[in-house]
This record gives sequence, structure tokens and C-alpha cells, in this order.
Amino acid sequence: MAKNHFLLTAHPLNTMPSPDPGQFFMLSVDSRLDPLLKRPFSLHRLVLGDLQFLYRVVGKATNILKDKKAGDIMELIGPLGNGFPVNEIEEKKPVLIAGGMGIAPLVALAEKFTERQPVFFYGARNAEEILCLNELESIGITPVISTDDGTSGRKGFVTDIVEEFLYHHPSSSFDYALYSCGPKPMLETLSGIAMKYKIKAYMALEESMACGIGACLGCVIKTVDGYKRVCKEGPVFLSEEIIW
Ligand SMILES: Cc1cc2nc3c(=O)[nH]c(=O)nc-3n(C[C@H](O)[C@H](O)[C@H](O)COP(=O)(O)OP(=O)(O)OC[C@H]3O[C@@H](n4cnc5c(N)ncnc54)[C@H](O)[C@@H]3O)c2cc1C
Ligand code: FES
Repeated sequence: MAKNHFLLTAHPLNTMPSPDPGQFFMLSVDSRLDPLLKRPFSLHRLVLGDLQFLYRVVGKATNILKDKKAGDIMELIGPLGNGFPVNEIEEKKPVLIAGGMGIAPLVALAEKFTERQPVFFYGARNAEEILCLNELESIGITPVISTDDGTSGRKGFVTDIVEEFLYHHPSSSFDYALYSCGPKPMLETLSGIAMKYKIKAYMALEESMACGIGACLGCVIKTVDGYKRVCKEGPVFLSEEIIW
């Protein structure tokens, strides 16, 4: 897709429940013992029953993944987690905010929301890391882009641009719901913005995961209702639940 960014298409050999945007799969990248643990990846798109994953190469597992060949067999578990709520707030205008690799689950979500004409904000470090524009364009979405270095779209943080948008389009004219995925500092800032403008914000979190199925407690976060497992009760949480 771009430097260090790859798309994996997996054709399920067994029947599985249809995954929802925001759900994820644990992928076993190699049958050898190293790396031992499966790695979590969000559903990027569901295309004619095939699962697509969009990923950035960051370490051992993703380095192995990028060298997979067509026809290789892999083991994966999923769909896991709760996913984004898509039907509960039908009267609201969806505002999607992706930061960096947070674009991965938001494309599947944008596809679900096509008829509601979502507003889409997309921030990345630089122009090279802006992905999926063709996929978004094919469903009629032109994202508002920002980059940290100004090489594409507006220069600056995507959260500043979202706040500017909400300031100029107050929620009395539209009732918004925010849906986002991205680095933790971005989500935390967004959570503050959602609180300020009294808007519901759903956020897909990414914590390091060992089991992905709720057994190891390795992925817990603090919430107003105590500790919760990102892999089981999440990965999507309402921002007001999270203690940052
Ligand atoms: C629910 C969920 C969904 C995810 N979806 C995607 C996706 O769609 N596409 C994608 O590219 N990645 C996604 N990730 C992150 C992905 O799981 C990690 O990048 C991957 O496990 C790294 O494995 P590795 O062996 O290549 O790197 P490692 O050797 O395990 O780690 C390399 C570096 O990446 C950091 N890292 C590892 N995992 C994470 C993480 N979860 N968050 C932040 N930093 C991390 C490590 O601290 C280390 O610095 C997701 C994570 C979660 C929890
Ligand atoms: S990763 Fe084991 S409980 Fe969440």
C-alpha cells in the first residue's frame, strides 16, 4: 500500500460469523514457536467474504507477515471484541476520525455508513502514510486530511481540525457521533473535545494483547466502572467511560 504498509487478504477456509467494523482477529503469523503469540489486527474490509487486514510493519510478526505468499495457510481467531455500534444512533451524523494506522478499521465502518454521508477526518505523520484514498473515494468519501509535517492536507494535528469543524458546525444543526481509532494521545485529546461539545465518541483502543480472548488480563484499562479488558469488553469504548 505504501512504504512499510501492506494489505493481507485472507480467504476463510471454515465458516465464521460475519465480522463487524471495529472487531479484530488474532493472527498466527508462523507455525514455529517464535513469535509464540498471535497478534491482533482489525478487520479492514470484508470483500466478497474475504477478510482484509491493513498493517504497518513494526516488529517480528509483521515482518514475517509481509513475506507471506498467495496460497499460504494461516491460523486466525475471530471475529473478536465488540466492534463499533452502527445501528444504535441512526439519527446522528457520523464523524469518523482516523489517526495513522487507525485508518484500518475505519474504512469498513465508513462502508457501513455510506448512506449517512459521514464526515471523515484523517491525520498521519506525512503524505507517504496517507492510505486508502481510492477505497474511500469509491464509496463517495473525500477525507479532510492533515499531516504533522504539512506534506499533505492541512499541517497540524487532526484533533485541531476536528475541533475547528465542531466549533463552526455546532451540534444544534446536526447531532454528531464521533467514531475514532488512532494513537492514544490523539484519542485522549478527542475525548476532551467530545466532552466539551457534549458529543458521544466511540473509540477503538489498541493495547498490547497476549490472548485476545479475555483470559490473560494483559490488556486491561481503567474505566469509570473499574478495569475492563480491551479484547473482550472493547476494543470500542465510549470515551466518557475511559480513565486516561
Ligand atoms: C485490537 C487491535 C487491533 C489492531 N489492529 C491493527 C491493524 O489493523 N493494523 C496494524 O498495523 N496494527 C494493528 N494493531 C497493532 C498490531 O497488533 C501490532 O502492530 C503488532 O502486534 C506488532 O507485532 P510485531 O511482532 O510486528 O511487533 P512487536 O515486535 O510486537 O512490536 C514492535 C513495536 O510495536 C509496538 N507495538 C506492538 N503492539 C502495539 C500496539 N497494539 N499498539 C501500539 N504499539 C504496539 C511495540 O511496543 C514495539 O515498539 C492492532 C492492535 C490491537 C490491540
Ligand atoms: S489479551 Fe488476554 S485478556 Fe485481553
